[in-house]
Amino acid sequence: MDEREYRFPEEFLWGASISSHQVEGGNTNDWSEWENKYASQLAEESKGIYGYWQPWQIEMFPEMKDPSNYISGRACDHYNRFEEDFKLAKDLGHSAIRISIEWSRVEPEEGKFDEDEIRHYKKVISSLRELGIEPFVTVWHWTVPLWFRDKGGWENRGSVNFFIRYAEKMVHSLGSDVKFWITINEPEIYSSSGYYAKGLWPPEKKSFVKYFTVFHNLIKAHKLAYSAIKKTYPHSHVGVAKDNIYFEAYRSKVKNKIVATLADLWWNEYFLFRIRNHQDFIGLNHYFHNLIVNWSEKNENKIVSDLGWELYPESIYFVLKDLQKYGRPVYILENGLADAEDKKRSWYIMEILRHVRRAMYEGADVRGYLHWSLMDNFEWNKGFWPRFGLVEIDRKTLERRPRHSAEFYKDIILERGLTQKVIKKHEECCLRDIASRIKGEAPSVGSRFEE
Ligand code: BGC
Repeated sequence: MDEREYRFPEEFLWGASISSHQVEGGNTNDWSEWENKYASQLAEESKGIYGYWQPWQIEMFPEMKDPSNYISGRACDHYNRFEEDFKLAKDLGHSAIRISIEWSRVEPEEGKFDEDEIRHYKKVISSLRELGIEPFVTVWHWTVPLWFRDKGGWENRGSVNFFIRYAEKMVHSLGSDVKFWITINEPEIYSSSGYYAKGLWPPEKKSFVKYFTVFHNLIKAHKLAYSAIKKTYPHSHVGVAKDNIYFEAYRSKVKNKIVATLADLWWNEYFLFRIRNHQDFIGLNHYFHNLIVNWSEKNENKIVSDLGWELYPESIYFVLKDLQKYGRPVYILENGLADAEDKKRSWYIMEILRHVRRAMYEGADVRGYLHWSLMDNFEWNKGFWPRFGLVEIDRKTLERRPRHSAEFYKDIILERGLTQKVIKKHEECCLRDIASRIKGEAPSVGSRFEE
């Protein structure tokens, strides 16, 4: 490997992401209510879901049978320990951190803003600034105040106005210290998981019509929030966190291509196309590669995370290449894996960065990489058992313990890339094993698919 090839530009931002409900603790919102209602059921169902499909998971994570796993409760107590967490991020070399504001804290009652909570977020942002860490601030990462939910949530015609009132208040209160704003996190995941197909998450509505209504309200909300932020702070940079997937047509067969193209148009392109004149950058969240074989998704799953999600790092290259057409800089705002034993995380980070760099050489304007996540946290309807953190959180004591991969990532940041020195230092412990598994055990591409 030629060292120079995998060096990143000086001004490239490196860091990690978190979101309020997943780490703060002590929140009262639509999710906290939902968790209390469903914790026992989720614990009961986990035996069926994981025990049947992937028995190793339930053996490895017995806590998934425990209802308390599904209640965010004190989470990581980040609300009280944010300074400690940011210092740790600084020690780990990070130059950017993505956080989110908890709407239910700052506007617990309709139209009544809690100035103490707003001051809290001011402190959060300035503590990042004092450490020389660039804050990326998400206005809305999925959880909503109870009053907003009771008024019909995002299905309600007035929802956009409520959101804009909140967004404007945040921008006026916090904007002088924030350069990068993210209005909305992953509109597709939110609307499909809470409405349409699965109706799994709050508000659990299975309705096509509602799904589209919500989705279109989110488009409108983003555009108006974009304009509001730019009006107040014209030099700020505003975008969304967009969850793009690499849809690959197996063997480029026509039927596979049709499905992959349609899926791509709806999932990856539609939102971005609709907001194309209302974004300064594209915030990319990337986790998935969907191989389309005979009309449906059939991944090879050579290497999977603790959640059973395929780890296919090359996919980010294709997604980044595709985003070039929008002519906007890209910040990778989420990318990561659940890996409690930290056996695959270093390898995954290394491979992802290789492919990011490759896309950059071919013209992709990527300006930063923020790993998901800084620390283990509350993974929505899965609860605490999936461990996404560079930093491990002891669930009993809440002690923070950086994993080996956090040190590997730190060395990459210090070297501004994947140099021989970094690879050599970590090769024995955490890069070699997984590389040989990919070569050895995995079936060759296509060997599983009957046509
Ligand atoms: C979300 C995060 C989530 C992560 C891992 C993203 O879809 O923005 O909140 O924890 O993926 O599932």
